[in-house]
Amino acid sequence: MAKQFDVVVIGAGPGGYIAAIRAAQLGFSVACIDEWSNAKGGPAPGGTCTNVGCIPSKALLQSSEHFEHAGHAFKEHGIDVAGLSLNLPQMLKRKDTVVKQNNDGILYLFKKNKIAFFHGRGAFAGTAEGVHTVNVTGANAETLTAKHVVIATGSNARVLPGAPFDEKLILSNTGALTIDAVPAKLGVIGAGVIGLEMGSVWRRLGADVTVLEGLPTFLGAVDEQIAKEAHKLFVKQGLKINLGVKIGAITTAADKVTVAYEDAAGAAQSVEFDKLIISIGRVPNTIGLNAEAIGLALDERGFVVVDDDCKTSVANVWAVGDVVRGPMLAHKAEEEGVAVAERIAGQHGHTNFNTIPWVIYTSPEISWVGQTEQQLKAAGVAYKAGTFPFLANGRARALGDTSGMVKVLADATTDEILGVHIVGPQASELIAEAVVAMEFRASSEDIARICHAHPSLSESTKEAMLAVDKRALNF
Ligand code: FAD
Ligand code: NAI
Repeated sequence: MAKQFDVVVIGAGPGGYIAAIRAAQLGFSVACIDEWSNAKGGPAPGGTCTNVGCIPSKALLQSSEHFEHAGHAFKEHGIDVAGLSLNLPQMLKRKDTVVKQNNDGILYLFKKNKIAFFHGRGAFAGTAEGVHTVNVTGANAETLTAKHVVIATGSNARVLPGAPFDEKLILSNTGALTIDAVPAKLGVIGAGVIGLEMGSVWRRLGADVTVLEGLPTFLGAVDEQIAKEAHKLFVKQGLKINLGVKIGAITTAADKVTVAYEDAAGAAQSVEFDKLIISIGRVPNTIGLNAEAIGLALDERGFVVVDDDCKTSVANVWAVGDVVRGPMLAHKAEEEGVAVAERIAGQHGHTNFNTIPWVIYTSPEISWVGQTEQQLKAAGVAYKAGTFPFLANGRARALGDTSGMVKVLADATTDEILGVHIVGPQASELIAEAVVAMEFRASSEDIARICHAHPSLSESTKEAMLAVDKRALNF
């Protein structure tokens, strides 16, 4: 006998579980299906983000940063650490505990919001008279029906042809988060977000890290000035970054992996690594969804086709997060999940793509919102720029972390803030002010006239806003 719901959500990553919670808050009966299992075979809701993405990577970034500080930065603060050593099993165990706390938190939220959770794979079985049937397969097989279905099945790591992930020598993000001994030589293909974050973790723990990037420019989506500054800092830290390479054959032996490539000058190169992380982007995941059963349209790259409101080609079937167009970010997935639940309730859910912040959690962190200088130039928009270096910020000096800057781009005529770009300490937190400012369509003068606490890193944002009108006070 089929179980009936108002809304069935397939996938309990940040897109799916948040959509389920919001729909339940709005009074709907909601089911959420997710197939992710923990090491014991139990449910592990939270998707890529919680299990092999945002959360475990940030746990390791934090731990490895502590290790690096204890080994280097503490000395300058007058703290001598004798006999410093790495307990990698404990570091990985802590990361697993953090993941489990998040899994359990989501299970608690499902209970609290009276959401029926099904651990298994959800697949469309068909549609009759406006009601969709979704089969759950797994240990507890069920048949669910609902008027509305939200697809939030996420994404998987893209495979480099000829180099499938074995998670022993050739690692996706999953393997990169569970390496059980620091590799002496670590290769990374792709100098994107994962490559830089995971490369930083293992470099801090002692690996000699070489990053091989196909494009000739470093972090092409980032504001050029910020990307240049970040590149300089990463190289100084010891990351070897080779741009403009053409990857050739990748071969594995018992415990080594060799990458042949052509460097930017066209010369043939070959490097042997102990482990290789391949992070060349992610692909949408619709495996096992049986999209054909309801005639769901996918595009040529496998994304579920949606309009601006996340409506798919099938009435009352919605899709959010990594499985649809737009940035593959947890908070973007969440925003879409909330907006879809509100649209199902007849409300006007909204996702503002212009104010989705990006953060790369390296050290220093990189964050931005809005347009880059190169985008404004290409669009022919007249703008003013203001920058402020953390070197001139008292709090950054006290912290002992003065690298980087805040950069503000504002419309030349109206002074509306068009983009804010940060490389430096706590950039992930500082960007929130810029997002609020842009959401409220503030001018740089608006923020420049707001009192910011002293001493704080946020004064750098205020100063960069002042610098737009060439009146920074401390630089
Ligand atoms: P997912 O989180 O992928 O969740 C989809 C869920 O659906 C999974 O649990 C999957 O098992 C389940 N599923 C799929 N098909 C079915 C089916 N047929 N039946 C049942 N269940 C199914 N983003 C950030 O914003 N900040 C970060 O710091 C960040 N760090 C990252 C670090 C790494 C290493 C990686 C890989 C990604 C990171 N991301 C980060 C990206 C972020 O993880 C994704 O954008 C986000 O998880 C997308 O959410 P989602 O709900 O669309 O999909
Ligand atoms: P990415 O798109 O960030 O970077 C991939 C890089 O690989 C690009 O620089 C690309 O030019 C390069 N590349 C592609 N094919 C190549 C090839 N054949 N040879 C050499 N280089 C090649 O993708 P990544 O790092 O895999 O991350 C996937 C997504 O996950 C990110 O785009 C982001 O959406 C999300 N993510 C977000 C994080 C955050 O918000 N802090 C952290 C980690 C991931």
